[in-house]
Amino acid sequence: MADQKQSIHGVWASRWVFILAATGSAVGLGNIWKFPYMAGVYGGGAFVAVYLLCIALVGAPIMLAETVLGRRGRQSPINSLRSLAYTAKASPRWAWAAVMGMIAALLILSFYSVVAGWALDYIIGMGQGSFTGISGEGAATRFATLTDDPWRLAGWHSLFMLVTAIIIARGVVAGLEKALRIMMPMLFVLLVALFGYSLSTGHFMEGVRFLFHFDLAEVPAGILAAMGHAFFTLSVGVGSIMVFGAYMPRESSIAGTVMTVALLDTLVALTAGLALFPVVFAAGLEPSAGPGLMFVTLPIAFGNIAMGQVFGLLFFMLVAVAAWSSAISMLEPAVAYGVERSGRSRVAVTAAIAILCWLVGMGTVLSFNVLAEARFMVADESGWRLFAWTDAGGKTFFESIDYLTSRILLPLGGLAFCLFAGWVLSRDALREELSLQHPQLFPVLLCLLRYVAPAGVAIVFVTELFK
Ligand code: TRP
Repeated sequence: MADQKQSIHGVWASRWVFILAATGSAVGLGNIWKFPYMAGVYGGGAFVAVYLLCIALVGAPIMLAETVLGRRGRQSPINSLRSLAYTAKASPRWAWAAVMGMIAALLILSFYSVVAGWALDYIIGMGQGSFTGISGEGAATRFATLTDDPWRLAGWHSLFMLVTAIIIARGVVAGLEKALRIMMPMLFVLLVALFGYSLSTGHFMEGVRFLFHFDLAEVPAGILAAMGHAFFTLSVGVGSIMVFGAYMPRESSIAGTVMTVALLDTLVALTAGLALFPVVFAAGLEPSAGPGLMFVTLPIAFGNIAMGQVFGLLFFMLVAVAAWSSAISMLEPAVAYGVERSGRSRVAVTAAIAILCWLVGMGTVLSFNVLAEARFMVADESGWRLFAWTDAGGKTFFESIDYLTSRILLPLGGLAFCLFAGWVLSRDALREELSLQHPQLFPVLLCLLRYVAPAGVAIVFVTELFK
């Protein structure tokens, strides 16, 4: 029977470890950096309201779908989908959705590692006190000096990737589970410490007002952005959650677990926003949008308020830990597949994949300096062209990979997983995996999986692609 299957890679000690792993994956740069600034740009409370709705109606159902498929399949996403499709007498081509997801996850990891490397550099900078009393210009220059230096970027990128690979190579229980048991409490403590600090700045209510002022007129502008972000922040659409589902013990209830993860992820995003903006306001700065917020604005803020050095250090440690627990989830689907497919050791497979990913990441490293003028995707009258040595429009290597993954591959993957769980997997299998305490909820979840979430993804996808 399908549900008697065991994963060859290991099984988490309990459903709590799945919660740690999935929350670790979900909580990352998306929560700490992207969510606060997007909320600011798209009208605070209006954005937050739409975002919460999108998490509930689109993000969480896809997460549910992935967890069900993973635990039912008990293998890497590719082989899980293949065997589930076989059992359901559906086309084995469904497995291509997982192939695409696996590639997307590795592409995301390639640049995530570079950006997380910046946080590592800032940990050292904060530790050395190089931000103390820094001016706006000084902070901007410091950031530019970092991104202009390919060797320095490559060094941090290599270190980040190496640690990620070591955790993965040690295996599901000895590597992932053990690392998560250390990283997640650390993340929690750091976040609470920063939150307490922001309470003490005397500007806390300004932060609250900034994040939660609700203006109905601002709702429409942020809908698409909120839905897209709901996707990214929950790590769905690439098989990361699916592979973690494969390591989930048989008896635990999926629906409640997924709800917990979605709630925790949202809570961290809100807390990060509430921890961050009061610090920015306390230093008399504007909550400006974009990458500048975390690497320029915030360091100025920390450099110019009491105890800023200590809490700045804690902040960038928080970013690094959150990024690491996300990064391991991007590598795992490919490593699990590689082990199943080649029969080689986990160490060998991890090394090969991490090196490949590291190489692609070097493209991102160079796109900030040596290759800053090279455009890899250029859209003009004649449509999309793939490579051009020009600075007129178009996207750098980093921007191209970011665009390709978040705008195209993630939504497509999420759509496929959702449709598979809703339409291909038998109802009995779905019901059995969900093992709902309140069976009346089953039709509601089925409706979300079959219609609501796919429609939501389709709307975002089509609008993003053709705007
Ligand atoms: N959710 C993470 C964040 O918010 C990023 C992430 C981890 C991710 N794994 C993923 C995004 C898989 C998309 C797909 O930073």
